[in-house]
Amino acid sequence: MGKTDVELKTILEKFEATRSELIPILQAAQSSLGYLTNDTMREIARYLSIPESQVYGVASFFERFSFSRRGRREITVCCGTACYVKGARRLVDILESELGIRCGDTTPDLEYSLKQVACVGACALAPVVLVNEDVHRQMEPGKVKGLLAGE
Ligand code: FES
Repeated sequence: MGKTDVELKTILEKFEATRSELIPILQAAQSSLGYLTNDTMREIARYLSIPESQVYGVASFFERFSFSRRGRREITVCCGTACYVKGARRLVDILESELGIRCGDTTPDLEYSLKQVACVGACALAPVVLVNEDVHRQMEPGKVKGLLAGE
């Protein structure tokens, strides 16, 4: 049994094997393991005695669940209309170039992930970039290096 299997078993033991525990179990698995693999979802389905498709369906519905490994710092560029108009696409281009990855990917050292999303609901602050939960307002191309440096 691998380390991940042991971790997952420990997680599952904290929850009752009922369908209503599916989301809490997915949250616990994601936060402990970093992301959800097919094996993880298969085990959760088996534990709850529900079809795998149901686990996958719920996990894929919520954006907070990830099926691939994410970086320690997840950079999210809002590309909703207000942010797009104020240059969000250019920010994505610069971030892709600085990090050497495409949107949706994670750097090989697992330090950064980059993604773009639709409106995050803070249009007055456009263009908006999030680093994990931290909101960076009115981002400009000239601020990107500082952002990556944690300033
Ligand atoms: S479009 Fe970016 S916050 Fe609304």
